[in-house]
Amino acid sequence: MKTLPVILVGFGPVGRAFAELLAEKMAELKEKYGLSLRLEAILRRSSALLLEEKVESLDKRALVNKINDPSSWSRRPSLDSLLQQGIPGVLVEVTTSDLKTGQPGYDHIKKALTSGWHVVTANKGPLLVSFSELHNLAKENNLRLKFSGATAAALPALDVGLVSLAGTEIRRVEGILNGTSNYLLTRMAEGASYSEALKEAQEKGIAEKNPAYDVEGWDTAVKLALLSAAFFGVCLQLEEMEVVGINQLTPEELRMAKQKGLKFKLIGSLWKQKESIKAKVRPELLNPSHALFFVDGTNKGISFVTDSMGTITLMGGQSDPRGAAAALLKDIINIYHHF
Ligand SMILES: NC(=O)c1ccc[n+]([C@@H]2O[C@H](COP(=O)([O-])OP(=O)(O)OC[C@H]3O[C@@H](n4cnc5c(N)ncnc54)[C@H](OP(=O)(O)O)[C@@H]3O)[C@@H](O)[C@H]2O)c1
Repeated sequence: MKTLPVILVGFGPVGRAFAELLAEKMAELKEKYGLSLRLEAILRRSSALLLEEKVESLDKRALVNKINDPSSWSRRPSLDSLLQQGIPGVLVEVTTSDLKTGQPGYDHIKKALTSGWHVVTANKGPLLVSFSELHNLAKENNLRLKFSGATAAALPALDVGLVSLAGTEIRRVEGILNGTSNYLLTRMAEGASYSEALKEAQEKGIAEKNPAYDVEGWDTAVKLALLSAAFFGVCLQLEEMEVVGINQLTPEELRMAKQKGLKFKLIGSLWKQKESIKAKVRPELLNPSHALFFVDGTNKGISFVTDSMGTITLMGGQSDPRGAAAALLKDIINIYHHF
């Protein structure tokens, strides 16, 4: 059985959910995939939890007790020192996303890839800013950089596009890729005000700290840019896209649409136009025959139009930290386990 070290950098809701999920699934990972993952360290900005008693022998309750005990946390060692000791494994990068500089995730990912560690991340910033560089670095070092958590998390958009649709030509992609916007649209069509719906989304832990990023369509645009890079090898810039959010829609418009049996959805589209790839994000009025009409609440959805498999649509993958954590774990399994 392979025993592989894991270093977790970032311990917000997603990092915490990942650590707990790993402890919860440890036995299943061994039994089903022959994988023994050993959580060695959790790093925050200035503190760290170094797990001498490795998580392969810790159950979830013991891990949570350790995490909640302030005396378990010590001054943070450098990431380099941790990456250099022992055999390389996987770095899980879930720090705060900065879409302008890509930091601190960029440095973490680069250090890991130059030290022989695979990387899985839910952090969009470093990928948006430096996709080609990091992708090439992984390739040159025969390592994997996987980012399901950054595209639509629990909705397996990347895997389906890259693996299940292998050999097809993806001609168009349409997605409801932002759970917060979809939740707000659903609740407002049901009669909630914008502020009530937003408060609910924040209580569920799905709204990003700055809701403007979700409701103005930028989160969807970033996900489209990452999907374009993965599927078409084209790193789109956000400035190249038409991006319109849901913030211009009124509750009245949403209720009227509902009365007519229609729904507004924030649709991100990616399509081939001659030799180039185009992308746009905007609210669209859908009727029940549209593949994404029934994607409601915090769920997401994606539809691929292909040349030889017709249209394939996935729905679900609701947004929350546990779903993002599950996407990270899935990426780790897929690095090591070949089905
Ligand atoms: N929340 C979701 O459902 C979701 C879904 C998909 C993707 N994502 C993405 O996943 C990532 C994590 O999300 P989150 O909600 O858990 O984020 P968050 O609440 O912003 O937490 C970020 C964590 O990163 C740590 N951090 C920041 N700078 C660091 C540094 N230089 N070194 C080490 N740690 C550092 C913070 O440390 P301190 O604890 O010391 O402040 C904190 O623990 C983000 O990039 C987010 O965009 C989130």
